[in-house]
Amino acid sequence: MKDIKRVGVLTSGGDAPGMNAALRAVVRTAIYNGLEPFAIYDGYKGIVEGDIRAIGARDVSNIIQRGGTILKSARCEEFHTRKGREKAAKNLLEKGIDGLIVIGGDGSFCGANIFSKEFNIPIGIPGTIDNDLYGTDYTIGFDTAVNTVVEAVDKIRDTASAHNRLFFVEVMGRDAGCIALQSAVASGAEAVLIPEVETHFYELEEYLNSELKSHKNSGIVIVAEGEKHGGAYQIAEKIGKDYPEYDIRVTILGHIQRGGSPTSYDRVVASRLGVASIEALIDGKKSVMVGIVNSDIVHVPFEKAIKNSEEIPTYLLDINKILSI
Ligand code: F6P
Repeated sequence: MKDIKRVGVLTSGGDAPGMNAALRAVVRTAIYNGLEPFAIYDGYKGIVEGDIRAIGARDVSNIIQRGGTILKSARCEEFHTRKGREKAAKNLLEKGIDGLIVIGGDGSFCGANIFSKEFNIPIGIPGTIDNDLYGTDYTIGFDTAVNTVVEAVDKIRDTASAHNRLFFVEVMGRDAGCIALQSAVASGAEAVLIPEVETHFYELEEYLNSELKSHKNSGIVIVAEGEKHGGAYQIAEKIGKDYPEYDIRVTILGHIQRGGSPTSYDRVVASRLGVASIEALIDGKKSVMVGIVNSDIVHVPFEKAIKNSEEIPTYLLDINKILSI
């Protein structure tokens, strides 16, 4: 087995709080083990265009607490083509880079999967607020995003209660209801709608008609953005037509969920995964995502991580139902 000497690292896809902490861990673990780390800027665009620079331990000082990604992130059409990927491989080769760490989510790992099959290198670290990758209990940024949602919903509840209003709050998670479910339970939401479980409007309506009307003056319904009946506006419109007695408002939380300083939890997860990714490269692993299951580090082949869908903790739906009476 050929020893890895130089390792490239990039962040790709939607940014997530904790990506910088993961980068810091990758760079310092590489140096600790005698490898030379290289930063690649703007995601896959940086490999295709050759924006690859040596990075040292001091270059990642003072970033563990910062949201966003100092390496930036971008979409790259060229990397979707064989020609673009050949250019990327040539640029890595020219710099003598024989290992690559990709910090990103589902889409980024699809790119990594193709690239690693053709040129045999990347290892991925799950950095996405959505927590929708198969084979890991956590993705970097999820905990911070949920805390951001909970803080916002706490504030919305104050005004909802002051005006006796029903709020529909839309949260992120393209195809996944993880943020919605977790934040609904943590913020004591009255109801939650997620894409993985079909919404039976009659259940929501029944609830609005009985429990909410007889015991409560205001309420919060959390809607995951990928919910099949449309976003929070469409759902609120339907409910508003059927129940004109409710004073309804809608809040879309949007990209504030992607920003901010990572929680201590995300910083520790990012640090563990960053260290584990370099150790995996040194151990000769390729084309795998490094994840955490039951507190242990695991290695999941890209194929599995992107093709399967993670099971949603639907017990949280039941818990929310019980606790919202
Ligand atoms: O994948 C992370 C995510 O934040 C999703 O929850 C959301 O749908 C998407 O990114 C939005 O991406 P962008 O606005 O960057 O295109």
